[in-house]
Amino acid sequence: MCGIFGCILKDEDAAPVIHAALKRLEYRGYDSVGEATIYEGKLYVKKDQGKIDEVHMLHNLDDLPGSLGVGHTRWATHGAPLQVNAHPHVDCSGQIAVVHNGIIENFAELRLELENHGHVFKSKTDTEIIPHLIEEILKNNSSMSLVEAVLEALKKLQGSYSIAVISSKEPDKIVCARNESPLVIGVNEKAVYFASDIPAFLPLTNKAIIVDDGELVTLSLGNVAIKKIADSQVVVREPKIIEWTPEMAVKQGYPHFMIKEIHEQPSCLRNTLRVQEHYADLMSTFLDRARDVYLVACGTSYHACLASSYMFSKLAFLPSFPIIASEFVEQCGKSVNIDSTMLAVSQSGETADTLASVNTARQRAGTILGLTNTIGSTLTRVSRVYIGQQSGPEIGVAATKTFTSQLSVMAQLALRLAKKRGKVSQDEMDFLEEKLKKIPDTVEEIIQKQEGKIKQIAKKYKDAKTFFFLGRGISTATAYEGRLKLMEIAYVPAIAFPAGESKHGPISLIEPGFPVVFICPRDETRKTLIGNIMEMKARDASIIAILEEDDEEIKKLADDYVEVPRGIPEVLSPIPFVVPLQLLAYYMALERGFNPDKPRNLAKSVTVK
Ligand code: F6R
Repeated sequence: MCGIFGCILKDEDAAPVIHAALKRLEYRGYDSVGEATIYEGKLYVKKDQGKIDEVHMLHNLDDLPGSLGVGHTRWATHGAPLQVNAHPHVDCSGQIAVVHNGIIENFAELRLELENHGHVFKSKTDTEIIPHLIEEILKNNSSMSLVEAVLEALKKLQGSYSIAVISSKEPDKIVCARNESPLVIGVNEKAVYFASDIPAFLPLTNKAIIVDDGELVTLSLGNVAIKKIADSQVVVREPKIIEWTPEMAVKQGYPHFMIKEIHEQPSCLRNTLRVQEHYADLMSTFLDRARDVYLVACGTSYHACLASSYMFSKLAFLPSFPIIASEFVEQCGKSVNIDSTMLAVSQSGETADTLASVNTARQRAGTILGLTNTIGSTLTRVSRVYIGQQSGPEIGVAATKTFTSQLSVMAQLALRLAKKRGKVSQDEMDFLEEKLKKIPDTVEEIIQKQEGKIKQIAKKYKDAKTFFFLGRGISTATAYEGRLKLMEIAYVPAIAFPAGESKHGPISLIEPGFPVVFICPRDETRKTLIGNIMEMKARDASIIAILEEDDEEIKKLADDYVEVPRGIPEVLSPIPFVVPLQLLAYYMALERGFNPDKPRNLAKSVTVK
């Protein structure tokens, strides 16, 4: 997730306006920043790694000439946060500049093709292929306009994007386009703006046009021309008046970042399906060869590791040890050697216990693999191979969208590994890949259909003194994560166990009305799980079941239930099944009068440079 903004102004310099707008978009990314403007037929660019204020101190982002320009604030996906990788990216001639938010999946093939035609690339980003591609198209079709060349280029791109293109040869326009990444246009009498999100221009205008997927927009002063990329059909769309305050706008109208991020999960999961093949292959090779595999993390990321250990075992027959990072050195430190592989999982890439485990493993010659949301973090620097999970910055302290993205990446790794090891048939592989592709839609459906019901459940149980969360098999990880969310933001003491373990002690806590949340995917553990539900019912516990929509048997046993779509394979089930638990924690926090974005005693790790 990155932030893009640009403007054409009537009688003002664009650079200070772009700079101020990027500051308002900093929540979308903050590892590098850049601007490009056009003045008297020449393109000017300033960009560097670092937060906007740091880059401004060094380069004075307000000091670029011209009343038309574009800007970008980056959250790295391809290529580390370095000056060369910062946007805007330009073509060989230095005439075309592009800012981009999204992921171009086929950039490696396109780059090779363009290099064969003599194009010289400076960065490691997927974005840089876009200005070169447009340059190549214009080189071969000298009568083409910039808009036509952009349209042509877009037809070759696979992946997600919102882009903006400027050219010193056509200095009065900005060409933007959107596919799966957000893009909005702002208008007033003196200017026209584009941005990833409305907050970028809200102090300047409240008249906005929302661009849809598959549309291209040409901006010039006083004119916004929209057409469909596929067939150039003209689209007429009037601006809407946005009533949000600036604070509401940053949260896109949601009251808290946590709920905004829960709702972002379908789009994050779509991005996560675009992991870089090369790194995923390399990682699965290391995992395949290792004698011992340790999956190491803290908190929510640890729960992702726990779920992954089931995925690796069930799909690829690979045993692995999920270990809480703060225990790793004591528990396993001495067992690590040159044949060990540690897959460290950390949203921030900076969690001290995780990094301490990594250091121990490195000192003992183990191989370090990393999964993180923060390219440029310490974890990416110390890993032999790392994968960026591409969830965008998570501002809510409680991890939500980054958890489901981690699970999706791990499922993809498990599938690759299974293929490498010949452990699943092609039919099963095709089936699981297809299901994984549909998970974003499944999550979208759960949020749409169940949020209201979960609100009511939170109301009903808001005064409960304690909660139980129980699941079996891979759903044990889901239960742990549900408990953590409820404890950390709603301050309800909660207990989670593999359901089979509950009768070995914890069941003594149960008394009439005690809420017990059961995670009930239709998998091999179902029969025994129903037994566990009966045990709790016999003691008059209140059963809250997260179940598949046609599961009439468990519905009859439950006091309350939340439905997820049917037919979710067991190994993928934690992704959709955790979503109702995130929503439950969120609404319980509200019911109990707490701010879910500001849990006491907790703060997010950030990259220290
Ligand atoms: C829970 C939460 C924490 C983090 C943990 C690890 O909602 O946010 O438990 O999961 O502190 O953080 P990372 O993944 O950054 O290493």
